[in-house]
Amino acid sequence: MNVITTDQKNSFNENGVLVLPEFFSHEECDSLMNRMSVIIQEANSHEESTVFSTTNRTHTQEDYFLTSGDKIRFFYEQQGDNSEPSELSLNKVGHALHDLDPVFSDFVRQEKMTLLATEIGFVEPLLLQSMYIFKPPRIGGEVVWHTDHPFLWTDPPSVKGFWVALEDATTENGCLWCLPGLHKESPKERFRRKKGGGTEMITLDDSDFPTENKIPLEAPKGTVVVLDGLLPHWSSANLSETSRHAFTLHVIEGSAHYPKENWLQRSDDMPLKGFAS
Ligand code: FE2
Repeated sequence: MNVITTDQKNSFNENGVLVLPEFFSHEECDSLMNRMSVIIQEANSHEESTVFSTTNRTHTQEDYFLTSGDKIRFFYEQQGDNSEPSELSLNKVGHALHDLDPVFSDFVRQEKMTLLATEIGFVEPLLLQSMYIFKPPRIGGEVVWHTDHPFLWTDPPSVKGFWVALEDATTENGCLWCLPGLHKESPKERFRRKKGGGTEMITLDDSDFPTENKIPLEAPKGTVVVLDGLLPHWSSANLSETSRHAFTLHVIEGSAHYPKENWLQRSDDMPLKGFAS
């Protein structure tokens, strides 16, 4: 059984992006959205979820982020009410939903996802990172032009993103945009942990992306967008009245080297897993 055609695979190799409408059913999308509502309700009864509501201390925020690779944690939009997590105040929840929550685990470990990863070229896929992204109405922030490889570095580059539209993503509510074909260029930066603590962004090439060539990736609910880790992408702020929930999974190749300097690290008792749970 194939979930993509040879033409689609060739197009992905050529452009660095593949858009697959109706890959997931509306019911499958709703199951993730409903599960996230429950996770948020449960978080509201925990003290930890409010860590950012009462502090602006950069060190605490960075530590919360840097230790989130094997946890389910809550990150707020810069604007809006940060007093408690909700669909209207959160930017995202991450980064190990796919290993820690049974509903998210079942979602990513469906056979069609395994097949899709294999058909785009993975040999030993490892599920590195997952994020539930809210892009709430009126305050959902811009995500500036970037590629994912600098943040999830492997030698050789191997990360691919699977971006699922849980709601319709349009140019009005902040859909993805990308620069097709630019994945063939070298990375321009690298985000890593510093030796003494904290993180830094290393510039490898200070030229700008040719963003005048950008194209929108409007995606009806249920669409999966596959992004090469070196494909530049961007999304605008959401100034509309509708939310734009999305779920992303990032996968790396098991044979590629994963550096200790990468921000996302797992504890020894929670190693990365593949699509088989
Ligand atoms: Fe990204």
